[in-house]
Amino acid sequence: MLIRLSKNAFVRQYGDFTYILERIKNYDVVMKDAEVFMRWISRYPEEIDAIVKNIISVYAGADSNEICSDFIDFIGNLESNGVVVTGRTVEELARRDISFSYDVDNPKTMDTHRISPAERTMDEIPADLLASYFKENPTIFTLQIDITQACTERCIHCYIPEYTPTFLPLARIKKVIDELREQGGVTLSISGGECMLHPDFKEIVRYAREKDLIVGILSNLTLCDEAMVEFLRETECTVQVSLYSMNPETHDRITKHKGSFDKTKAAIEMLRKANVPCRISCPTMKPNYKDYLNVLAYARSLRMDAQTDFVIMGKMNCDTSNLACRLNLEETKSILEDIVFKSVPVNSEYFDPLKKDDMRSDEDWAKDKVCGACVDSVCLDATGQYYPCAAFGGIKLGDCYEHDLKWIWNKSPETLRIRSVTGECFKKCIHCKDRDYCSVCMCRNFNETGDMFTPAQHFCDVARLNHEVVDERFAKFAKRTSKNTDL
Ligand SMILES: C[S@@+](CC[C@H](N)C(=O)[O-])C[C@H]1O[C@@H](n2cnc3c(N)ncnc32)[C@H](O)[C@@H]1O
Ligand code: SF4
Ligand code: SF4
Repeated sequence: MLIRLSKNAFVRQYGDFTYILERIKNYDVVMKDAEVFMRWISRYPEEIDAIVKNIISVYAGADSNEICSDFIDFIGNLESNGVVVTGRTVEELARRDISFSYDVDNPKTMDTHRISPAERTMDEIPADLLASYFKENPTIFTLQIDITQACTERCIHCYIPEYTPTFLPLARIKKVIDELREQGGVTLSISGGECMLHPDFKEIVRYAREKDLIVGILSNLTLCDEAMVEFLRETECTVQVSLYSMNPETHDRITKHKGSFDKTKAAIEMLRKANVPCRISCPTMKPNYKDYLNVLAYARSLRMDAQTDFVIMGKMNCDTSNLACRLNLEETKSILEDIVFKSVPVNSEYFDPLKKDDMRSDEDWAKDKVCGACVDSVCLDATGQYYPCAAFGGIKLGDCYEHDLKWIWNKSPETLRIRSVTGECFKKCIHCKDRDYCSVCMCRNFNETGDMFTPAQHFCDVARLNHEVVDERFAKFAKRTSKNTDL
């Protein structure tokens, strides 16, 4: 009997911990002391008997029947979660290796731009053990590379200050990908600008896939033709695209690119037909206020994931002129009501009303990190500068022409500074009554106020509104429950 890893399964070893991820069934797990069982399971078919012999040779002196039966249970569990395939022939393995399909009821498509084993809390492993491992050994899981600053669009809200035709050279990108893999990275997000403008876009994707990385593409899809769709299907990429409205004029007014709606929509539908996993993001601003309702309905008709988001940040160079398109508080409140009362999906978990039962004390909050910037992820821009997270380009961690990723991650003083940030640094936030209804964020603070620990009043007002709307929902719920009890 043969066994190999499924094409959608990815395995990384971090110290004694084995991280396994399967992205069709949206399954991931961290195991302790599973390295020997996983050691001979690769992308290439291997005889199960041969693997068992190898394992027995490692545990010399142990009961070989017990090892064999443990291993069979182990791979049975992996197979039921889609991590491995077994079969008598290579063809049978290929037949049993499932691909993503919109026509099958998949669990929600995994957001491959946000993978972080450090956040797992597994039954098998005490959560604090895993947390303390990653605390002592900060591990980079996701790298975003903005391979170019050039773009086909000029979106009114965009945080990128200028769209000069700067392209990070292929050789440098390959070197960085090698370094990411050496550091145990799982995901490469390729963004821009418009990444498909890079002359070596396909070679970059191919190389990252050869290195067994999950590749996520952030694109406006205006350059995505049939050949590109076929390429993305073959290389098993996932895609995130922005669609601002179902009204072509509104979408084009935001992108300032006539005809962009038609191109983007056509590409989304081609991706759908080719079963390339795609997620639609619909940032909401003044010109497309409430259009997310139609965009979300459209996505539903395609069985595609979609979310709105109204958190518009200032530009990376602290120019706030792009915020003129941001919703005012009255408009924002109406969206919050849709999110809280009608479960409209949103690209931020802090609007989740269930969080009401999950409040942390001020002391605990002050000790914790506020996000994954420099904790599990980092970004690289087209000029070769590393920076902490998407849109936080104002803070430079180091230059990829001078330093390798290992140095950036472990030694850069700026990386260490950002990594050491905890709630305590945000003096205004520690005792704030709206804190659990807010996404405390260094980047959006920095881009708008010039100081990463000083929040802009707008975001404080939004958090207050969010708090009010959630309280209103709970008050209504409580009233309904008490009426039912009275009956
Ligand atoms: C910078 S773009 C790069 C990828 C690609 N060009 C695109 O538009 O999807 C990535 C995402 O950031 C969003 N975005 C751009 N500027 C933003 C801002 N100021 N605040 C919040 N999101 C922003 C875009 O709408 C897009 O969804
Ligand atoms: S949001 Fe994306 S598509 Fe729009 S201008 Fe910025 S980089 Fe280009
Ligand atoms: S509402 Fe303002 S002060 Fe309160 S946590 Fe959010 S950013 Fe901080």
